[in-house]
Amino acid sequence: MMSVFSGFSLLFLLPLCFASLAVGATLPEDEVQALRDIAHTIGKKNWNYSVDPCDGKSNWNSSQKNVVTCNCSFVNHTCHVVSIILKEQNLSGIISADLVRLPYLQQIDFTRNYLNGTIPKQLGTLNLVNISFLGNRLTGPIPKELGNITTLKALVLEFNQLSGSLPLELGNLTQIEKLHLTSNNFTGELPATLARLTTLKELRIGDNQFSGAIPNFIQSWINLEILVMQGSGLSGPIPSGISILRNLTDLRVTDLNGSDSRFPQLNNMTNLLTLILRSVNIIGSLPENLGKLTNLEVLDVSYNKLTGPIPSIFGDLPHLNMLFLEGNHLTGSLPRLIDRPHYVDLSYNNLSIGNNIEELQCQRETVNLFASFSNGNSLGNVSCLSNIPCKSKLIYLGFHYRLLVIILTFEMVGF
Ligand SMILES: *[C@@H]1O[C@H](CO)[C@@H](O)[C@H](O)[C@H]1NC(C)=O
Ligand SMILES: *[C@@H]1O[C@H](CO)[C@@H](O)[C@H](O)[C@H]1NC(C)=O
Ligand SMILES: *[C@@H]1O[C@H](CO)[C@@H](O)[C@H](O)[C@H]1NC(C)=O
Ligand SMILES: *[C@@H]1O[C@H](CO)[C@@H](O)[C@H](O)[C@H]1NC(C)=O
Ligand SMILES: *[C@@H]1O[C@H](CO)[C@@H](O)[C@H](O)[C@H]1NC(C)=O
Ligand SMILES: *[C@@H]1O[C@H](CO)[C@@H](O)[C@H](O)[C@H]1NC(C)=O
Ligand SMILES: *[C@@H]1O[C@H](CO)[C@@H](O)[C@H](O)[C@H]1NC(C)=O
Ligand SMILES: *[C@@H]1O[C@H](CO)[C@@H](O)[C@H](O)[C@H]1NC(C)=O
Ligand SMILES: *[C@@H]1O[C@H](CO)[C@@H](O)[C@H](O)[C@H]1NC(C)=O
Ligand SMILES: *[C@@H]1O[C@H](CO)[C@@H](O)[C@H](O)[C@H]1NC(C)=O
Ligand SMILES: *[C@@H]1O[C@H](CO)[C@@H](O)[C@H](O)[C@H]1NC(C)=O
Ligand SMILES: *[C@@H]1O[C@H](CO)[C@@H](O)[C@H](O)[C@H]1NC(C)=O
Repeated sequence: MMSVFSGFSLLFLLPLCFASLAVGATLPEDEVQALRDIAHTIGKKNWNYSVDPCDGKSNWNSSQKNVVTCNCSFVNHTCHVVSIILKEQNLSGIISADLVRLPYLQQIDFTRNYLNGTIPKQLGTLNLVNISFLGNRLTGPIPKELGNITTLKALVLEFNQLSGSLPLELGNLTQIEKLHLTSNNFTGELPATLARLTTLKELRIGDNQFSGAIPNFIQSWINLEILVMQGSGLSGPIPSGISILRNLTDLRVTDLNGSDSRFPQLNNMTNLLTLILRSVNIIGSLPENLGKLTNLEVLDVSYNKLTGPIPSIFGDLPHLNMLFLEGNHLTGSLPRLIDRPHYVDLSYNNLSIGNNIEELQCQRETVNLFASFSNGNSLGNVSCLSNIPCKSKLIYLGFHYRLLVIILTFEMVGF
């Protein structure tokens, strides 16, 4: 009786066992071996191959910065690696061309490691969606083969030592939304093929050594939300076609060589939160219609050749928190800027002392009026400075340092 029962239970359990094997699908051996070889090349030491990489356990998923993800819903419950995230893992190897042995890979994120060497051209054969090599030590050019990854939505190569000119083939990335190339050593002109990237939402190319003028074709990037070219090497003027880019929330252009030009027409960019046009050779006056940018939080048009008065409308921008107008030739009296903006720099202008200067200085901790006034007397006869109690401290010497901190903080947001 006893033996019959156990025989029955064994028969009963066997199919269950097979069923669970089929459901708990594992990564095929060729992809496991590919992971071993990739790990060896990039310097990833602690993956535990006795745990299935598709388990989402152990060192395959020890934090959000360290995850291998599989999709096990392919035909016959086959698993494939679709994403490798290894952020801030102190990897000091090179980017492995063996990544192509994971043919279903959609995402590679090696942000902030110490990877050196070049970007392997073989990656161009993968159907990748996201690539980030941000903050490594990569050298050499962007391989033209990457232009073949028509599935690519994000190519993030910021903060490396990449060089050479951008390949024409990048114009074939017809789904690209983020192209982040800041802080590399890229040279040459922006290729005209980039005009085809109409899906672009974010373009960051600052801190490079590009040459030539900002191209007119920037106006074809109609979906652009963020355009950052601070110290890109490109020269001005800013093409007038930029006025078409109504979806911009963040426009930052600095340090342009090239000819003088008037303030660009930005009045239709009503989504703008940050507008930085610093040292870009703008002449003429500050347009009144900047007052239409009612969402504006940061306005920096410092170090241009602006003349004329500061439009009173600036006092009405409800969210303006930082206003940097220093290093221009602005004249007239100061508009009333009562509650906002919090940070104001009007230094090095030709303003005349209006009757609300005292109010401004006494209410803000962070107002720099150094050499703001045409008579060169920026501090002398402002009574609140001599009449303690003044509500706030004015720290003139510390100001530029603090400004730097603010600007750097803003830069980091893009990280
Ligand atoms: C790898 O995983 C197995 C199974 O969970 C475990 O027994 C072993 O200790 C792990 N090895 C290391 C080095 O963590
Ligand atoms: C990684 O682990 C977390 C927490 O255990 C889990 O929610 C997530 O689904 C896992 N991710 C993968 C790719 O397995
Ligand atoms: C997994 O792959 C299958 C087959 O290609 C696909 O239909 C499914 O959307 C994928 N799942 C995820 C979460 O990407
Ligand atoms: C799925 O499994 C069936 C039955 O084992 C097999 O005939 C078929 O070839 C498999 N399909 C694929 C794509 O592996
Ligand atoms: C990377 O190295 C630093 C400094 O040695 C260490 O503090 C950190 O924990 C390491 N990170 C990882 C993920 O190993
Ligand atoms: C690509 O990155 C975006 C943003 O981080 C994320 O939402 C998306 O799921 C990623 N796509 C893939 C296929 O990994
Ligand atoms: C990469 O860095 C290693 C040291 O971490 C060095 O030995 C090697 O020469 C470097 N390779 C390149 C291509 O710079
Ligand atoms: C891009 O893909 C096409 C088709 O597979 C191939 O003929 C071409 O050589 C590839 N281009 C590059 C630059 O790899
Ligand atoms: C990619 O771009 C290059 C140069 O712009 C072009 O010659 C080539 O035909 C394009 N390739 C594909 C597959 O579209
Ligand atoms: C950057 O490029 C310039 C011009 O090609 C070159 O002189 C310089 O050495 C490069 N710098 C680095 C860090 O590669
Ligand atoms: C701009 O943004 C809106 C709202 O997010 C969106 O519907 C539109 O497609 C975007 N592009 C253009 C060109 O307006
Ligand atoms: C702003 O939009 C209005 C209405 O669509 C249009 O008439 C005007 O030309 C646009 N201005 C600029 C500078 O693009």
